[in-house]
Amino acid sequence: MIKRLFFLAFLFPALTAFSQDAQIKSSVPNVEAKVDSVLALMTLEEKVGQLVQYNGSWDLTGPASEVGNKEKEEKLKKGLVGSMLNVLSVDATTKAQKLVMENSRLKIPLMFGYDVIHGYKTIFPVPLGETASWDMEAAERSAQIAALESVAEGVNWTFSPMIDISRDARWGRIMEGSGEDPFLTSKVAVAKVRGYQGDDLSDPKTIAATAKHFAGYGFAEAGREYNTVHVGENELHNTILPPFKAAADAGVATFMNSFNDLDGTPATASEMLQREILKGKWDFQGFVVSDWGTIAELVTHGFARDKKHAAEIAIKAGSDMDMEGRAYETGLVELVKEGKVDEALIDEAARRVLRVKFKMGLFEDPYRYSNANTKTELDYDKHLREARDIAKKSIVLLKNENELLPIKSSVKKIAVIGPLADDKDSPIGNWRGQGEANSAVSLLEGVKSAVGKDVKVTYAKGADLGIGRRSFMIPLKINTTDKSGFEEAIKKAKDADLVIMALGEDAFQTGEGRSQVNIDLAGVQQELLEAVYKVNKNLVLVLFNGRPLEISWSAENVPAIVEAWLLGSESGNAIADVLFGEYNPSGKLPVSFPRAVGQEPLYYNTKNTGRPTNPVEVTYSGYGDVEKDALYPFGFGLSYTSFEYGDLELSSEEMDENGEITASISLTNTGKIAGKEVVQLYLRDMVASTTRPIKELKGFEMVELQPGETKEVTFTITNDLLEFYNAEKKWTSEPGEFSVMVGGNSVDMKTETFRLN
Ligand code: BGC
Repeated sequence: MIKRLFFLAFLFPALTAFSQDAQIKSSVPNVEAKVDSVLALMTLEEKVGQLVQYNGSWDLTGPASEVGNKEKEEKLKKGLVGSMLNVLSVDATTKAQKLVMENSRLKIPLMFGYDVIHGYKTIFPVPLGETASWDMEAAERSAQIAALESVAEGVNWTFSPMIDISRDARWGRIMEGSGEDPFLTSKVAVAKVRGYQGDDLSDPKTIAATAKHFAGYGFAEAGREYNTVHVGENELHNTILPPFKAAADAGVATFMNSFNDLDGTPATASEMLQREILKGKWDFQGFVVSDWGTIAELVTHGFARDKKHAAEIAIKAGSDMDMEGRAYETGLVELVKEGKVDEALIDEAARRVLRVKFKMGLFEDPYRYSNANTKTELDYDKHLREARDIAKKSIVLLKNENELLPIKSSVKKIAVIGPLADDKDSPIGNWRGQGEANSAVSLLEGVKSAVGKDVKVTYAKGADLGIGRRSFMIPLKINTTDKSGFEEAIKKAKDADLVIMALGEDAFQTGEGRSQVNIDLAGVQQELLEAVYKVNKNLVLVLFNGRPLEISWSAENVPAIVEAWLLGSESGNAIADVLFGEYNPSGKLPVSFPRAVGQEPLYYNTKNTGRPTNPVEVTYSGYGDVEKDALYPFGFGLSYTSFEYGDLELSSEEMDENGEITASISLTNTGKIAGKEVVQLYLRDMVASTTRPIKELKGFEMVELQPGETKEVTFTITNDLLEFYNAEKKWTSEPGEFSVMVGGNSVDMKTETFRLN
């Protein structure tokens, strides 16, 4: 068969020379001609088969016993399945691939997809946490390592990066994305695609990536999971789509559509999103996989009469592959025969799937990602060292009164207290791939291995988390009132020079199906904190969480707060690196922390409105009972040293569309130790044909300075940074005045203005 394909490719040299899909990088030659040559041999049934994705719910290394599984096996043998998800291990993927390669007529290899979200075996910080590093090399490197560990288990396609902008801390999946900002999320999207796919998708050290969820999922009404999304065209284009455009431009191999209804049309059924924008305007050449069952769910949405109708709608809208919905496999062939669906649409979708498979090099060697030797070649210890490095860079220092941190050598007795202090599981987080349960370094372990013999470390759990491990969507309340552990915690706190408290969320409080109305410290954690604080005010609060938490009391009272997210395998060591000053914290928040949950959704890049809040009339575009702004704003994060910004200087007060100006500022390390600062550039279009946000991140640079050292940081402003989706539905800039703001977070900034002519 393979020989025949090459022969056909040879017959059509003109086609081989013409390659539209330069975007997905691969060294495999003549892909388009090869795709055509395969397509020409396929029956309608085989083409539809390429659009079917099965879950590998049975153990492929053992006999397929259940009826459903037997049926799947038969379909594989007939070449009627395009890809599988959740088939893990070299043995399992080899066995599934063999069913296809040794039995089917055309021997078109399978792809094996899996949710490798923040690591496969070595677990990195949850994506929201890792974004807090603002370190794109780190974001790329963790994806690269995840790819290496995935291919060692036969997985060659990840359903990541998740690049949904999310501004509502109640939404459980906020932890899976990069926060509230389109510019920062776009940078992460590009880094992740590069990390997973490398420069050559056919390299067996790389895997195909997926930009998901297309689109709007992160704007679920009131943070309620799977909920309706009401956003207008302006918001869609200016806020939600830019990271997806960046991923498409970076050559991401696949997109995944989303569960939500967007202004009356489920995303899976949206021709506007999938055909007009993604495959039309953006010229995306890969394929769109549905989210789990979303095609069949068009029926539940009340958008399709039955599964067959759903299949008709989805294929017309541009959804190429049906993940476990069973709508394409049961409906499409008949729909074509009845003349309701043009076979050209099936051809187009199958062509996209084949294209990605060719680019992955699967036709050259269907088993190239199922090589038993790959695993033994991996240096998992090195991966852990890198995970520690990335984790420490992701930590954000929120408060540090009287320089309580880093912990001084005069501290001889430390009490580590709280339900998360010795928790080796929660830091692994949700969507943990094959990260083992209870495999993280706990905070207690990290602290113990960081201190010398002369420091005594005690521990008390104090209380349970309040919300515990739960099955999908079903909250499990545990011990919300039990305070029997308080006494021991108070005793140990009293007896210590310094208390480190580990509070926050369980691994599964964030992630899919984990929306919450309350985002404070659940259960009796707040009471525990106050009781311990009462007896020892030398208290460092370390937060574990996948979403912004409501921590107003702590912000007011507790002297030091360290945001440690869910940092992955090396969590405890990374936190200890920061607590003891081995690493000077450099992370900055990728999401606003509210004063109260009622402020959600909360984000810095808001519109001014016609009645912006002023100090007197607080209720204008705000509230009567709490300030409108964030407790800790986007971009915020402290260091153990201090930085001073000089004056902001623009190279000119005017700029032409084809020109550029520079914005320069001097930054001095005014403290006593070396440190890193993320210098941030924000812009505001003062008057435009649509209202524009009061500031938008448009650049950032990590600067490292020795004590007393000064550096000049320069940003170049070009027209592309000024562009937006305007009233004429064009992505363009408009002449007029712009405000330039530079600083260390989205609030404290130096401002200048210029004119775009
Ligand atoms: C999630 C996707 C995920 C898919 C496959 C869905 O429930 O929304 O993000 O990739 O399942 O596991």
